[in-house]
Amino acid sequence: MKISGKTKVCGLIGDPVEHSLSPCIQNAAFRHCGLDFVYVAFRVKKEELEEAICGVRSLGIHGLNVTTPHKINVIPYLDGLDDTAKKTGSVNTIMNKNKKLIGYTTDGLGAIQALRYRGVDPSEKKIVILGAGGASRSVSLVLAMHAAEIVILNRTVTKAEKLAEELRLYHETNASVKAKELNKQNARQEIKDADILINATSLGMPPQENVMPVDSSLLRSDLVVFELVYEPCETKLLLEARKKGAVTIDGLTMLVFQGAVSFEIWTGKKASLEVMMKAAVDELASKIKG
Ligand code: ATR
Repeated sequence: MKISGKTKVCGLIGDPVEHSLSPCIQNAAFRHCGLDFVYVAFRVKKEELEEAICGVRSLGIHGLNVTTPHKINVIPYLDGLDDTAKKTGSVNTIMNKNKKLIGYTTDGLGAIQALRYRGVDPSEKKIVILGAGGASRSVSLVLAMHAAEIVILNRTVTKAEKLAEELRLYHETNASVKAKELNKQNARQEIKDADILINATSLGMPPQENVMPVDSSLLRSDLVVFELVYEPCETKLLLEARKKGAVTIDGLTMLVFQGAVSFEIWTGKKASLEVMMKAAVDELASKIKG
């Protein structure tokens, strides 16, 4: 890839960012399309966010991804929001349109596209979401527009209740929304007639890679299991679900789909999912090798 004075710069802001797979995924996609674009990661501390966003305008940075801890706090510094970002109050993608910075969120759309890619339509389904942190919020707000029923199970029940309340108040939510503590009894009761189970807790990623968020006896061949953890690519939950013959969707697929939507916003071109997926898998494998 030749960098020139005309190369358009895209990047990621967050803290931390050094382990992100996005630079590999996006640069592979730019190269594949022959685009004169480059993608880099910028570590931006919480207290430096406003300055960083001013810098985007003055440096003419073309587009950004936004990750933890800035997805919500970045909003006051932007010039506009697309519809979904407005409704969810969260931004993970910024496009610089002649110094006007427009915020988008591709997390939820990425989740829906990943489900549909695997032949799963979330419409009118009962979806059980484990976890009530940032990842859960991003996907649940968008899935609530499609599903019939959303159940949020979380270790800290007050956080699940707060998120459920937000979903209920959210004016396009037709789904019935419940919040409960994540424990054996509630998991059994809610998962037994669920169509889709989403793990949005950090259980399954190192150092808790051998921990499953729910008992494997609750998994069935007709329960779609969607994992947001992407490292390892196949978590214990996905492995056990696959053994039961369930449709499984891994966190890397979700990461690639949301990245593809960002790519399309910045370039106006269709992203190659195969190229992005291969870059993600290769990078993860080389990180594991050390
Ligand atoms: P993210 O942005 O990845 O969602 P987060 O906001 O820190 O990260 O959320 C982590 C989620 O994993 C939370 O739902 C957390 O539950 P609590 O709200 O009770 O903290 C969940 N989680 C983390 N460790 C857990 C554990 N050992 N058992 C159950 N849930 C856990």
